[in-house]
Amino acid sequence: MPLTNRSTLTQFLIEERRRFPEASGDFNALILDVALACKAIARAVAFGELGGVMGNHAVEQGGSVNVQGETQKKLDVLSNDVFIRRTEWAGNLAGMASEEMDLPYQVPGQYPRGKYLLVFDPLDGSSNIDVNVSVGSIFSVLRGPDTGRDVLEADFLQPGLQQVAAGYALYGPTTMLVLTVGDGVNGFTLDPNFGEFMLTHPKMQIPKETQEFAINASNSRFWEAPVKRYVDECLAGKTGPRAKDFNMRWIASMVAEAHRILMRGGVFLYPRDTKDLSKPGRLRLLYEANPIGLIMEQAGGRASTGHQPMLEVQPTSLHQRIGLVFGSKSEVERIERYHAEPVKTEQDNPLFAERSLFRV
Ligand code: AHG
Ligand code: MN
Ligand code: MN
Repeated sequence: MPLTNRSTLTQFLIEERRRFPEASGDFNALILDVALACKAIARAVAFGELGGVMGNHAVEQGGSVNVQGETQKKLDVLSNDVFIRRTEWAGNLAGMASEEMDLPYQVPGQYPRGKYLLVFDPLDGSSNIDVNVSVGSIFSVLRGPDTGRDVLEADFLQPGLQQVAAGYALYGPTTMLVLTVGDGVNGFTLDPNFGEFMLTHPKMQIPKETQEFAINASNSRFWEAPVKRYVDECLAGKTGPRAKDFNMRWIASMVAEAHRILMRGGVFLYPRDTKDLSKPGRLRLLYEANPIGLIMEQAGGRASTGHQPMLEVQPTSLHQRIGLVFGSKSEVERIERYHAEPVKTEQDNPLFAERSLFRV
């Protein structure tokens, strides 16, 4: 393998840090530990059935349903453990929270405590692992109490704008780490020869124009009017109000959809719907919507609930779910406009009018 001029993740972080001479290095150390966790998870995912890590987490090994009421996969549990073990020891963390843990995780007594909070979805899209589709890990870094005390749920309830950093790893044909430290978005590809993340996608920007949308259309009967309107207008294609044809995609791995949208534009919707009124959306605010939201905004895109910018939402609980729309800015703004307009626009929309023919 010839020498390359590309930066490693370590070099990138050190060079970024030079802009902040007072920085302690704790943050960089934390990100490098997270990156190592992601490399370990990438290997576990890549071994698949050979590694004996496919399938559901056995009840006799500690239960198989997480706080979300979802069946945990073996790899959900393993990935959660990897995140904890790789990051808890170093003295950078005040505490952690994860999709797979009901309560905040306290750094054990034998380790020093630090000033950051790490919030993560250790394996996103895990329903896809058994069918060999891309999955990923999502993480968010917040400031913590920095007093050495145990962390409380309230410490984590910070709006997304307060994130110090956010990122995801994607375990696809190549393993990538996409990171923002609040100064744009940079993408790194894992070089399997060196075991290093190399900067391959500097200053990522979401393309402005798009003709692709992603939504689970099987929920369409539960959608609210503004979402129905948006999707109907896309489906109407060239002869509809948008005057262009759209493509639809649904991987059911949000992290893979986010990556596609970063690379070639598009919009993703998992909106609030009426399917189960106890769940105001499918995806989780603190470890899915906020980190992906910050990445989108830092790449020139936008993230929203439909009603409000995602990053301004004041969280009310650790595992709170929320309606999520993200991607190319103009599409997200259009969807926000549809939410803001009075509902009567539904009747004005020729598509709904046409459909009403069938209702009578
Ligand atoms: P997780 O695997 O962490 O529970 O998250 C799965 C999420 C997300 O990745 C994806 O977009 C969505 O669930 C899939 O939802 P559907 O089952 O409705 O397709
Ligand atoms: Mn997830
Ligand atoms: Mn998950």
